[in-house]
Amino acid sequence: MCGIIGYAGKHNPKDILLGGLKALEYRGYDSSGICLKNEKDIQIIKSIGKIKNLEEKINKTDLIDSYVGIGHTRWATHGEANETNAHPHRCGKVTLVHNGIIENAALLKEKLVKKGIKFKSETDTEVGCALINYYYDGDEVKAINEACSEMEGSYAFGILFDDSNKLYAVRKGSPLIVGVGVKENYIASDINAIINYTNKYILLEEGMIAVIDKDSIKIMKGNKEYNYKVLTADISAESRDKQGYDHYMLKEIMEEPILLGKTLKPYIDDLSLIPDLSDYEEVHIVACGSAMYAGLIGKSLLEEKAGVRVLCDVASEYRYKKIIYDRKTLVILVSQSGETADTIAAMKKAKENGIDTLAIVNVKTSTIARETDRQIFIEAGPEIAVATTKAYLLQVSIFSLLAIKAANDLDCLKEVDKLPGLVKSVLDNRENYRKIAEKIYKENDIFFIGRKIDYAICMEGSLKLKEVSYIHSEAYQAGELKHGTISLIDKGIPVFGIITDDDIKDKTISNIEEVKSRGANIFIVSNNKISEYECIVVPKVSDYFQPLLIVPSLQLIAYETAKLRGCDIDKPKNLAKSVTVE
Ligand code: G6P
Repeated sequence: MCGIIGYAGKHNPKDILLGGLKALEYRGYDSSGICLKNEKDIQIIKSIGKIKNLEEKINKTDLIDSYVGIGHTRWATHGEANETNAHPHRCGKVTLVHNGIIENAALLKEKLVKKGIKFKSETDTEVGCALINYYYDGDEVKAINEACSEMEGSYAFGILFDDSNKLYAVRKGSPLIVGVGVKENYIASDINAIINYTNKYILLEEGMIAVIDKDSIKIMKGNKEYNYKVLTADISAESRDKQGYDHYMLKEIMEEPILLGKTLKPYIDDLSLIPDLSDYEEVHIVACGSAMYAGLIGKSLLEEKAGVRVLCDVASEYRYKKIIYDRKTLVILVSQSGETADTIAAMKKAKENGIDTLAIVNVKTSTIARETDRQIFIEAGPEIAVATTKAYLLQVSIFSLLAIKAANDLDCLKEVDKLPGLVKSVLDNRENYRKIAEKIYKENDIFFIGRKIDYAICMEGSLKLKEVSYIHSEAYQAGELKHGTISLIDKGIPVFGIITDDDIKDKTISNIEEVKSRGANIFIVSNNKISEYECIVVPKVSDYFQPLLIVPSLQLIAYETAKLRGCDIDKPKNLAKSVTVE
């Protein structure tokens, strides 16, 4: 998390930095700041909270004339979200912004304090800044190299030196690209931050240092120059537009029908692009957040339909657990961003053990896309709302294909053509979701219950609701509720029952009766009308695709509920979209 932007060029950097930070705000919004620089002066402006606070402050400030600058939006790790801890940080002749965590910061700080260096903030970043300054003797690249060789953990730095007119950047673990313009160049945590200016970029490799001014870019490996490749990003500035919708979350949900068709088409045209899981004795699906919940649907489909043995785990656990790799195993990493630190660590663990890796990923240039053995891309395009919707749905759709191929149930593929239209028909029911939201938005607790694959769907429905509306919500296996949690069911508590699996439909209904008789207010989401209950009925399709029709309705219920509660839907508190620290 945290977003970095940097500029060297012919324009005053202010607007470019602010625009970039707004595009990067999904990476964190606890505080933000910029540094502007010319030959003589350095000016740092910081503010807590969202970028608009920084913008207001900048607009009230007399700015220096400048041609180089750096900016940062922070998701706090070390030290609370106040102005002192906000970036840029400055020590001696060095000013910098940082994304990542310097894990040995405490040790390094102790060493620097003994040398008489004083610190103002509680951040690991200031330690990195002081260390670079400590090694600085007029040779910028040498100072960065020496300091980086002592830092453990992950970092992407954008750095300015008082004595130099250039912009410097280095990364290890955290993402950073160099944008290539005409008479101006950039650095950014992702291409979206600079796409209004250029779609040409260089992927900064681990440990390399970029030395940038308006006319030139040098990439240094140690103290030698390195030949780099300039890549072209296949995205447009328009794809980042809200296109008339009140929120990105709504826009992104509404894009689902079209993107589903776009994502599935190449694989339907050529099914050999989907790996054959029968080559493996075991599959591990590893991811974080919603991507992991997509994996849970994958696990259910692969086990139930194709008899594939599947372990599905959150990456932050998997990376540290003892994993027994005694069968021929495939590790599937699921990630929208392809930059989630724990998922990357899980990928590395698999690779170190000689295990094949497959990515289901959205960002094609991301670390996970680049470093896995095989990739299946979803075509979500930029996803801006912090709470994922379209990317999750598309990840699930890939698991549908993996399961169909593994089970050799190829007849089901005939349904693919009509899926976009069916998803659209679910989204068209918006008025109904709004009515349900009106009934639940004042509640403090909500439950989602289901069994087997329906429980996996509940996990995402519940997560979506709690992250955007801040209502406490839990997903529970319908049959397990009575072993303790049912004590929380009081009169009027909303309970959503998800029922798509015909085999256990009656069992789930019995569990729903149990909570209903204790006063719960029941809402059923199903592919069948179940009399006596308030029901959302979605079209019935084969089991492989059924989750794709249930999930959009839960996403819209979460959206409408958050809207009624006046929440900051696209940027819920405490969250960041791309979690690049562990
Ligand atoms: C964050 C986001 C979630 C996302 C998760 C994994 O927590 O808020 O929406 O599911 O990270 O992100 P990834 O980019 O790896 O899919």
